[in-house]
Amino acid sequence: MSATARKRAPNAVDIRARKGGEPLVSLTAYTTPMARLMDDHCDFVLVGDSVGMVLHGLESTLGVTMEMMILHGQAVARGLDKAMMVIDMPFASYEESPSQAFRNAARLMAETGAGAIKLEGGVEMAETIRFLVKRGIPVMAHIGLTPQSINTLGGYKVQGRDVQAQTVLADAHAVADAGAFSLVLEKVPQGLANQITAEVAIPTIGIGASAECDGQILVVDDMVGFFTAFKPKFVKRYAELGPLAEAAIAEYAAEVRARAFPADEHVFADQAPSQGSAK
Ligand code: KIV
Repeated sequence: MSATARKRAPNAVDIRARKGGEPLVSLTAYTTPMARLMDDHCDFVLVGDSVGMVLHGLESTLGVTMEMMILHGQAVARGLDKAMMVIDMPFASYEESPSQAFRNAARLMAETGAGAIKLEGGVEMAETIRFLVKRGIPVMAHIGLTPQSINTLGGYKVQGRDVQAQTVLADAHAVADAGAFSLVLEKVPQGLANQITAEVAIPTIGIGASAECDGQILVVDDMVGFFTAFKPKFVKRYAELGPLAEAAIAEYAAEVRARAFPADEHVFADQAPSQGSAK
């Protein structure tokens, strides 16, 4: 079914059932207006912890807090009607123990209305995923490049080349067996992404992975050209809104300095307008 013909937002069970079907479409969102723009076009929208880098100017996602996620989650929820909302668990909100993860996942869902949470990690998070799913929290897993672990991974490198492939494959099977309803595969070689997609029973959502994944996700500010600090290889720029916005700002600044703005049509007459006039 196409996104526009849908009657209600899909839930985790619907998303899981899309394995092997029409590719799932997803983007990140952090604000109400952006969520509104994608509601007709996406199957699910992720309130990603990338919000820290994209909107708050942080150098990594490590400084993102529960409070930031809740605030942005509430904003995104106001813009969504037809797409499912998934929300990221921020760094240090779930790794300590399954019960810490449950407490914070339940809070994120209750306070934002998200239909599922996403967390990073493979084999080492399988016990936590199982704990959450058994207690009613749908989990989207995230393996391959996991940005919350850049300090142990040594940077934003491709994950799963050569001997490392077995580790990423084991992660995929571990999170699927633990009950995750889908799996984000970030920055892994295409052949490995294809193998994982063929082997696991849950939808794989690629970002820097493969067109054979069961779905794709991008950071919206990357693909519309608002975030220009750097551009990963896996990003396709569908628009260049950043330069467009800067040109508009520069034109405004020049017009203000030249007293060309506001013009007559932007100011109010001294006399009350006659009826029917907007002035
Ligand atoms: O935080 C995020 O935006 C993400 C996506 C890149 C998958 O995790």
